[in-house]
Amino acid sequence: MATPATKMNENPTASVERTDLLIERYGGRAPRYTSYPTAVQFTPGVSPREYAAWLTSLRRDSGAVSLYLHVPFCDQMCWYCGCNTAVVNRRAPIEDYVGRLLGEIDLVAGTLSGRLIAGSVHFGGGTPNMLAPDEVGAILAKLAERFDFTPHAEIAAEIDPRTLTADWVRAAAQGGMNRASLGVQDFDPDVQQAINRHQPFDVVARAADLLRDAGVVSLNLDLMYGLPRQTLAGLERTIDQALTLSPDRLSLFGYAHVPWMKAHQKLIRDEELPDSRLRHAMQRRAADLLEERGWRRLGLDHFARPDDSLAAAAGEGRMRRNFQGYTTDEAPVLIGFGASSIGRMPQGYVQNASAVPQWRAKLERGELPVARGVEMTSDDRFRAEIIERLMCDFKVDLADACARHGRQLDELGEAFAMLKGMQEDGIADVNGAVVEATRTGRDFIRSICAAFDAHLERGATRHSKGV
Ligand SMILES: C[S@@+](CC[C@H](N)C(=O)[O-])C[C@H]1O[C@@H](n2cnc3c(N)ncnc32)[C@H](O)[C@@H]1O
Ligand code: SF4
Repeated sequence: MATPATKMNENPTASVERTDLLIERYGGRAPRYTSYPTAVQFTPGVSPREYAAWLTSLRRDSGAVSLYLHVPFCDQMCWYCGCNTAVVNRRAPIEDYVGRLLGEIDLVAGTLSGRLIAGSVHFGGGTPNMLAPDEVGAILAKLAERFDFTPHAEIAAEIDPRTLTADWVRAAAQGGMNRASLGVQDFDPDVQQAINRHQPFDVVARAADLLRDAGVVSLNLDLMYGLPRQTLAGLERTIDQALTLSPDRLSLFGYAHVPWMKAHQKLIRDEELPDSRLRHAMQRRAADLLEERGWRRLGLDHFARPDDSLAAAAGEGRMRRNFQGYTTDEAPVLIGFGASSIGRMPQGYVQNASAVPQWRAKLERGELPVARGVEMTSDDRFRAEIIERLMCDFKVDLADACARHGRQLDELGEAFAMLKGMQEDGIADVNGAVVEATRTGRDFIRSICAAFDAHLERGATRHSKGV
């Protein structure tokens, strides 16, 4: 994140220069803050031994937990993909993975002191609909065998519409699935060619129909901006086409181009990528368009119809942020299963081995397949709350946060110094102890949050662009 310095030009006719300056100062690389501390801070210091102790300390009467299952397989590689996944075109590796996953659920449940209640289940990936219908059924049955579900438990999956079958939807719905998120990205064939993802509108419409017909009634569509060959007009068309499918929620992710971490992203031609100014214009235009259509902007990259439960949660300051993005899920505990999955315990974060062979090897030894994590300090908890409220509400009352955590405002001196520059630049308002992103500042919320990040190496380049 750049350090703010001089007061910005306030002449309204200089808005282009002003935007450029804001992008230069605040559009640099910053974490997406799906957790604080972020995964960059995870170390092998959290081992299977610590995780076992953390699991054992969980109590049934502390409330419902959430469960996350990672499915690291895809049919084809999208060149922009930043997820932990691999292309497989044989059944054997998937069958083997499912067998181990069922074993991991037994191992974790056996480590607990008693039976826990689960309020939500999320299948992420990769592509959960790479599982065979009987495999998704078997996993849901295993979870039901090992956990008690709340009556209205949310059971959701990330789905690739191109490979969704009626049989899969039937098995998932029978197991209780009631929410789905469909990967769309952009409907423009030229963009689809540049990202290696051929997916006509009809394919998505058919997937949405299959899901709704089976009772999976709550639908989210994933869109992206900042993709190669994407234009403002094309993005507008994509949004309007997406709205004709009547989704309940939309995600609009900024393409994170990190070819030094994801080698296949090198297949995307740099000269076809929109520059920072165009990326910012896309983010702004998409937000304005959706607001014109009556949608609510929720946090960094989510939108919902005003009657959706996520919009209601946001309106009441109850929206939360976790590894899957924004959620209504208020459970303090998330148990992760599968390679690379991340869990959240009262003590801190824990992540399974990322590569399937390492994850499998640990399970074969009868070990919890944990590779790293971070134990949270009281300062981490304090800052995590501030960052989460800013990411969710664009606003935080620091005095309230201090009171809840037994801290003093003057411990945030460094953050206040940075906020002063942000206030002068018109991206944040600071009224006493209340910090709020301005409308312009919402696009730079990751950089506002970074002011409170005590772990961030300022100027480090490991994260994707902040805008
Ligand atoms: C696991 S995928 C969704 C399910 C399925 N695999 C699919 O693509 O249809 C999750 C979503 O992450 C987003 N995504 C993937 N790579 C990304 C990147 N490099 N930057 C930003 N968003 C990305 C895409 O919007 C994608 O739909
Ligand atoms: S975006 Fe989805 S389908 Fe494409 S490679 Fe990534 S996880 Fe697989």
